Amino acid sequence: MDSIVELIEHKRDGQAHSAEEIERLVRSYVDGDMPDYQMAAWLMAAFLRGLDADETVWLTKAMAESGDMVDLSPVPGIKVDKHSTGGVGDKTTLVVAPLVASCGAHIAKMSGRGLGHTGGTLDKLESIPGFSVFLPIERFVAQVRDIGIAVVAQSDDIDPADKKMYALRDVTGTVPSVPLIVSSIISKKIAGGADAILLDVKVGSGAFMKTDDEARVLAAELTRVGQALGRKVVCVLSDMDQPLGHAVGNALEVCEAIRTLKGEGPEDLTQLAVALGAKLLVLGGLVSSEDAGARMLRESIETGKALHTFKRWVAAQGGDPAVADDTSLLPLGNVATVVTAEKSGYIQGFDTEGVGRAAMLLGAGREKADDTVDPGAGLVLSVKTGDRVAAGDPIATLYASCEERFEAAASRLGASVHVGDTRPARAPLFREV
Ligand code: URA
Repeated sequence: MDSIVELIEHKRDGQAHSAEEIERLVRSYVDGDMPDYQMAAWLMAAFLRGLDADETVWLTKAMAESGDMVDLSPVPGIKVDKHSTGGVGDKTTLVVAPLVASCGAHIAKMSGRGLGHTGGTLDKLESIPGFSVFLPIERFVAQVRDIGIAVVAQSDDIDPADKKMYALRDVTGTVPSVPLIVSSIISKKIAGGADAILLDVKVGSGAFMKTDDEARVLAAELTRVGQALGRKVVCVLSDMDQPLGHAVGNALEVCEAIRTLKGEGPEDLTQLAVALGAKLLVLGGLVSSEDAGARMLRESIETGKALHTFKRWVAAQGGDPAVADDTSLLPLGNVATVVTAEKSGYIQGFDTEGVGRAAMLLGAGREKADDTVDPGAGLVLSVKTGDRVAAGDPIATLYASCEERFEAAASRLGASVHVGDTRPARAPLFREV
């Protein structure tokens, strides 16, 4: 049997591992027998040499099985999960999850926190007074069964391999590798117990994948590996060349999600939520076509069923459901300022990552994993791509806890909104399914 050093050398020299070798690497690392510096070396070798199709499946399986696996069998029917690769203003889960649950789906979701310019569902939920993202597994499963929805933080015992490996990749320049991203995302989904997974791969200036080609490769691999491990997987490529909706920042996004569940949300967020929701209803076996699913979802919004499910979900996780009727109960920065357009013209587009960074400068995001976020900080854009503005028109309102945060954030935001003379073509929300 080759030693760990020999396995690293094999990968360094471009050789393929066996399933047993991959399992041994993952197990040794999780058990603490393989130190960080050896895993870091292996990750860099894998980053540079790649992993083949089988190795990626084996790595994903070994990571998923590195800790507890959630057993959702007490929940009837097909359990679905939805995952976004991350973007700016992406509050889709807050809308889609209660929406599909109100139509009979069971959605079991473990979410992450925001890092860098992208937001995280857990931070958004925690901006609701009292909301807890920490549920014991038995309560998580019971809530999915009884209300149709639970969204929690991943426990330390689920996919510990990913927890350790992701932290190491973050500081060793080995994050942007397709096989490593695929194994990281899919292993968490497999350990989370869902039968069917909808993956929303974001593409554009605010996403991890900046071009359609890159996103297509990632989507194809996510689908292949998920299916190889026995899950139904659907992947969509959706636009992140501008923030989704108008709000960027935790409580501000919850407020926009609530408006969307009432049928008063921005067009792009509503369209994305209904389209993704329809796919989830089909995956969950609740409707036979996406058209039927979309009709059911729109009806749920119109009749107030979606909002009712949102309230039940919030209350079940300790939050104050009254926020759904009175969004002034959500935190909001003490001070606000308006950023205006410097010249007249059409909004050509955004440096969407820059918009996310501006929200971070206001206090809405974190630079390091242990930074705290200000739930009431963020910004609300007044414009979308293609809108006409005159010099001096508002382009965004910024919220923070103190005025000192405004200067850097306003300048970052101003530089991230591009105004030009001609009206640009509107990019479709969905690039590909
Ligand atoms: N998201 C993940 O969960 N893992 C990655 O590797 C990249 C994005």
